[in-house]
Amino acid sequence: VAPTPVAILGVSGRMGQSLVRLLKEAPALKLVGALASPQSVHVNHDAALEGPATGVLISGDPGEALHRARLALDFSSAGAVGAHAKLCAERGIGLLVGTTGLTEAAQAALHAAASKIPVLIAPNTSVAVSVLMDLARRAASSLGEFDIEIAEAHHKDKRDAPSGTALALGEAVARARGTTLQAAGAYQRHGAARAEGSIGFAVTRAGDIVGEHTVLFAAAGERLEITHRATDRAIFARGALKAAVWLQSQAAGLYRMSDVVAVQN
Ligand SMILES: NC(=O)c1ccc[n+]([C@@H]2O[C@H](COP(=O)([O-])OP(=O)(O)OC[C@H]3O[C@@H](n4cnc5c(N)ncnc54)[C@H](OP(=O)(O)O)[C@@H]3O)[C@@H](O)[C@H]2O)c1
Repeated sequence: VAPTPVAILGVSGRMGQSLVRLLKEAPALKLVGALASPQSVHVNHDAALEGPATGVLISGDPGEALHRARLALDFSSAGAVGAHAKLCAERGIGLLVGTTGLTEAAQAALHAAASKIPVLIAPNTSVAVSVLMDLARRAASSLGEFDIEIAEAHHKDKRDAPSGTALALGEAVARARGTTLQAAGAYQRHGAARAEGSIGFAVTRAGDIVGEHTVLFAAAGERLEITHRATDRAIFARGALKAAVWLQSQAAGLYRMSDVVAVQN
C-alpha cells in the first residue's frame, strides 16, 4: 500500500519538528507539505530545521502546503485552524487538530468540515492521557461526595491557559457529575472561598515543563490523585502519528482520541 501523503501545519514549532523527526519512522505516512505562519523566518527552508533534509520546503501559504496532501496534522495556532479546516473540507483532506485553545469560530469551522472529511480534535494525543480521562470520569461518578480540583503545569511559552487537556478533563468530570464546566468551572479564587461543587483549576507556567495534569478528588480524611506527567514531547507526536494512520481510513465525521484508543485496546 502506498503511504498516505501528509502535510504538517505548524511545522517549524516544537510539535511540528517532533512530528518531522518521527515521520521518518512511520512507513504508512509520507511528508509532502509543510506550513509555518506567512511571516515565518522558516519559509522556503527544509521542513527539518535540524538533521537530514526531508526535501519538502516550508511554505507560508496553506493552499500550497496542502497541495499534494491527503491528510493534514495541525499543530499551529488557534487563530489559523478555522481557515485550515475550510481548505481541507474543500479539498477532501482529512484533518487531525492537535492545536489547543480553539475559538468558537474554529470549533464551528471544524464541525462544518466534519460533514465532508474525517476530523479528529485531539487537544492531547498521548494515549495515556486518554486513559487518564477515562479514570477521572469513573472516579468522578463513583466518588460523588468528593471535591474535584484540576492542576496543570506547562512550559513558560504556552499561550492558552488552562491547557486544552485540563479543560477536557474538567468537562469529563463535570459531565460525570451531571453538570457542565460552564456552570462548575472556577478559574480565579484570589481572596475567595471555594464554592460548593465547583471544579477549580490551578495553572503553572515555568521553564521547559512538557506537560503535567493532576485530577484531585478530596473528602474528609482521604484524597485520590490521578496524575499524568509528560517528560518528552515525542509521546504527543507518536500518538498523533498513530491517530493519523487511524484517521486516514475513517469516513467523514468528528472524532476524539478516545475513538482511536478504543480501537487499539
Ligand atoms: N495535541 C497535543 O498533544 C499537543 C501537544 C503539545 C502542544 N499542543 C498544541 O499544539 C500547538 C503548537 O504547539 P507548539 O508547542 O509546537 O507551538 P510553537 O512551538 O509555538 O509552534 C507553532 C507553530 O505554528 C506556526 N504558526 C503560527 N501561526 C500560524 C498561522 N497563522 N498559520 C500557520 N502556522 C502558524 C508557527 O510558525 P512560525 O513560528 O515559524 O511562524 C510554528 O510552526 C499549540 O496549540 C499547543 O497547545 C498540542
